[in-house]
Parts: sequence; C-alpha cells; structure tokens
Amino acid sequence: MIEHVPVMVTEICDVLASFDHLERIVDATVGLGGYSEAFLKRWPNLQILGIDRDNQALERARVRLKDFGDRIFFRQGNFRYIDKILKEENWEGPDAIVFDLGVSNLQLSVPERGFSFNHDGPLDMRMGKASNGPAPSITAEELVNTCSFEELAKIFTEYGEERFSSKIARGIVRHRERNGPITSTQELVSVIRQTIPAPVQRKIGRNPARKVFQALRIAVNDELRALEEGIEGCRRTAKPGMIVVFVSYHSLEDRIVKHSLRQWYTEGLGVFLHRGGLKPSEQEILENRKARSARLRAFSFKNVTPYGAR
Ligand SMILES: C[S@@+](CC[C@H](N)C(=O)[O-])C[C@H]1O[C@@H](n2cnc3c(N)ncnc32)[C@H](O)[C@@H]1O
Repeated sequence: MIEHVPVMVTEICDVLASFDHLERIVDATVGLGGYSEAFLKRWPNLQILGIDRDNQALERARVRLKDFGDRIFFRQGNFRYIDKILKEENWEGPDAIVFDLGVSNLQLSVPERGFSFNHDGPLDMRMGKASNGPAPSITAEELVNTCSFEELAKIFTEYGEERFSSKIARGIVRHRERNGPITSTQELVSVIRQTIPAPVQRKIGRNPARKVFQALRIAVNDELRALEEGIEGCRRTAKPGMIVVFVSYHSLEDRIVKHSLRQWYTEGLGVFLHRGGLKPSEQEILENRKARSARLRAFSFKNVTPYGAR
C-alpha cells in the first residue's frame, strides 16, 4: 500500500479556517487525496473539486475518498489551465485553491514511472502519463539521449541548480557516444556517479543524482511554466476573500510563488496570510523527512472584481 503523508496539513487547515463560511475548495494537486480527506473531515459541509494531471493518482484518490460521496468530484487536468477548468466545471471563484507542488509518493515509489533514483526503471518521468489523458510528449529518456551537451548543461543548471552541470552533461554525451542510448534510471545514476569526483560525493552524502533527476522531471513536465500560468489563472478566477495556498519543495518553485504573491500585494489585490511563509514544525520534519524542504505561502484576495461582475 503506497502512502503519501500529507505535508503541513494542520497549518493549511489553520489558514483556511480564516475563511468564515468555507463551502468550496479546489485541491489543484489532489494526488492521493491526503489534503482533501483532512478538509472533508474538518468541514462537514465542504465540497471539493480535486484536480491532478496524473490519472493513477486520481484513481487512488477516488477509492480513498469514496465514502464522502458527491462532496468531492475529480477532474484530470493540468493546473496551468485552472481558470479554464473552473469555468468548464462552473466552479469559478471558489473559497480557496490549494497547491501541493511536486511529485507524490505514488510517482516516486512505482519504478516504471522513472522518477526515482533509488529504483531501477525506464527513464520516463511523465506526470501526465495516463491511459486517457493529456501527457507531456517527451520522456526523460528522449531528453537525455537527444539533447546536446549545451542543452543538457542548461537543464541541469536551471532546473537542478547542479554545481557539476557541465561535467555531468559531458559525461552523458560521452557515454552515449561509446555505449549508445541511456535507457534506465540506474544507468543514468551510474553515469552521474562516474562524473562527480568521489570526495565531493562523500561530502554530499545524499545520492549525487538527486538534482539531475529533479531537473529532468521539471523539464519533462514543464513544471515551472505550469506553475506560473496556474498562478495567473488563480488571479483570473479570484473573488474577494478567496484564499490561495501553495506548498513548495524547492527554491525554484518557491521563488515563483513568492514573486507572484508580492506582485499581487504591490498591485493592492490582497494580503499575505503569513509574511515570509511558514515552515513545517521540527516535529513534523522528524516524523516525515520529505517535509524538511517545504514552505507554505498563502494569500487572501481583497480588491478584485468578483468574477460574476467582470
Ligand atoms: C505532492 S503531490 C500532492 C499530494 C496530496 N496533497 C496528498 O495529500 O495526497 C503533487 C501532485 O501534484 C500533481 N501535479 C503536479 N503538477 C501538476 C499540474 N501542473 N497540474 C495538475 N497536477 C499536477 C502530481 O501529479 C502529484 O500527484
């Protein structure tokens, strides 16, 4: 049984509790349904629209939350189109939209998905890989084997903030020339291990492939642009009082969220609910290591034209 321990769920509930009559929440990254379950239990009259680009995740969430009946319904989709999705579902101007960014444990634990440097599997990494849904057209394998040295180095630098981007890119290109395409996660891990100096690897302590895997995943799924567009979409669908909550797990995501919320604030659209954001408690980090990099930021819209009056 694959579980995903929801991160900072107590803090999110506290933020949402500042809304007087919570009726409709959009869980824009419903994943395995951890947040939604907590919200449905806490607010007995609440309705939720759960969105995820990953069909496998949606199937799990459906089963997990079946006892809540029609208080929750699901929609496969990319949150980069959030305003369009809400319009199609007649759900514009919900009370809150919640984003829990990144990958779920389901994606990391199934080797065939190719997200994990700890398991051997195909180099896939498509979040939207699904039987009947929109999927990114390119896999990590295609990127690793078709990008030039310069393109690979750029991906590793921009999306992984990897110090050894050029060395690793050169190692990959050399490996391709000598041995043919790299097709599995562990083959890629071993190429990376061969390129990063051993003393540095000892100093890093963690798996040296971590940042390259993050970079490839972001590139394959176009995650940062999806986030930017999703944030814009929230603004387009906002009503006075609507709360938007983001939980991010690395500085690239958090930077985008922080700058966008600051921009909204500067434009007088509303207020931060916690200036500087919130971090998980030490207790939560002890119990769930995956929480250690989390940062929660929330914003409440005040001065927007209600969507119905636009
Ligand atoms: C950290 S998990 C969410 C876990 C969830 N909060 C829970 O408690 O089970 C992130 C989820 O967001 C989804 N996701 C990532 N980017 C997305 C996007 N652009 N549109 C829709 N879903 C996305 C992933 O497929 C994944 O299931």
